[in-house]
Amino acid sequence: MIAVDVKRVERDIYRVAEFGSRENERGIYRQGFTEADWQARQWLLGYFTEHGLKAHIDGAGNVCGRFGAGDTPAVVIASHLDSVPAGGIFDGVLGVVGALECIRIIREQNIKLESPLEIIATSEEEGRFGGMFGAQALTGNLTLDWIEQARDPKGEYLKDAMANCGLDYHEALRAMRPPASMKAFIELHIEQGPVLESVAKTIGVVEGISGVFKWLVKLIGKADHAGTAPMDLRSDAFMGLADFAHEIKRIIAEDGTDKSRLTIGRVELRPGYAHTVPGEVDFTLVGRDVSEEVMRALADSCRKALSAIARSHRLMFEYTEMSWLSPNVMSPEVMNVIEAQAKKLDYSYQIMPSGAGHDAQFFAEVTPSGMIFIPSVGGVSHAPDEWSNWPDVEKGCNVLLHSMIELAGRA
Ligand code: GLV
Ligand code: MN
Ligand code: MN
Repeated sequence: MIAVDVKRVERDIYRVAEFGSRENERGIYRQGFTEADWQARQWLLGYFTEHGLKAHIDGAGNVCGRFGAGDTPAVVIASHLDSVPAGGIFDGVLGVVGALECIRIIREQNIKLESPLEIIATSEEEGRFGGMFGAQALTGNLTLDWIEQARDPKGEYLKDAMANCGLDYHEALRAMRPPASMKAFIELHIEQGPVLESVAKTIGVVEGISGVFKWLVKLIGKADHAGTAPMDLRSDAFMGLADFAHEIKRIIAEDGTDKSRLTIGRVELRPGYAHTVPGEVDFTLVGRDVSEEVMRALADSCRKALSAIARSHRLMFEYTEMSWLSPNVMSPEVMNVIEAQAKKLDYSYQIMPSGAGHDAQFFAEVTPSGMIFIPSVGGVSHAPDEWSNWPDVEKGCNVLLHSMIELAGRA
């Protein structure tokens, strides 16, 4: 049976890891539309071309490489190249360089396919600007208004970050692909959680993907002298945040499910001085669940809790919804293809949901879509210790290879 050469996948993963590695710091810093991200994209464009793919970067910064002649609908194999700050080397990258290895094998073995294949390294999947920019552009889920107001939590505008990479944001809308130009979508990714390891299975066949909402929250009180302001007369923004953080467990117990997640991932206190009562706090709140209804209930409950807490601490509460990405289910057809390849290759597998967001949740709206997971050691991801073992990488790529051939059809 044909199989990938995992040494080449390993080499490519380490090559991409050079973009955004920092001296004396662990983890990868390759956030969307930063210099490191853009250098990686330029490199990949050349690498696709070297491999005989017809390659270009579209108006949304997606790196696209097509294999196989003709304009007939393509099987799209995508994942992303951007990382979270201090991220791991596998998240997203595996799906891109794994797909390239599959095309190498298909070429070397001279396998003739009915449909073209297209690898897409999507841009800004990790939500620096709130959404899943590249996948949203490709699937027609962007508006000019949204792009123009999108900012990262530090206040940098998406349109400026794109301009720094030589991209005109107006062109992003032109990246949309007509649904009829795609035959199917498939993505290989690390699980980023502990399930496969805990059940000792090698392959995850993803059945659905959690939705994500992201808020920027502001609590505004009054900065004051930390020595003279009496405790009961303060408007301390941090105390409001602390009370809300304490409410998260209750909100999930009352309105959530075992799949619900609420995370405060970034906090900025102002003025941020040890001897001053913090008058203001900005923080991010990310909520997730596999049900949109539950996501709405969580969001309502967070809003109510924040309003009540703000009142009790004499604070003002404001929030901006940076994004609302709906959950989605994978196509039974593509799931069946993945499951059949895992069986054929005699790899153990598990049908499972994804707690993390993925490009596939947008593609699922426009074409039959599926995802393959491989185990993450210790379930760790979005962190420097993110790791997957090479034999699992090899098996995941083999399932991808056989699934791609099956979806494209042998000529
Ligand atoms: C994507 O990686 C996410 O944070 O869900
Ligand atoms: Mn990812
Ligand atoms: Mn990620």
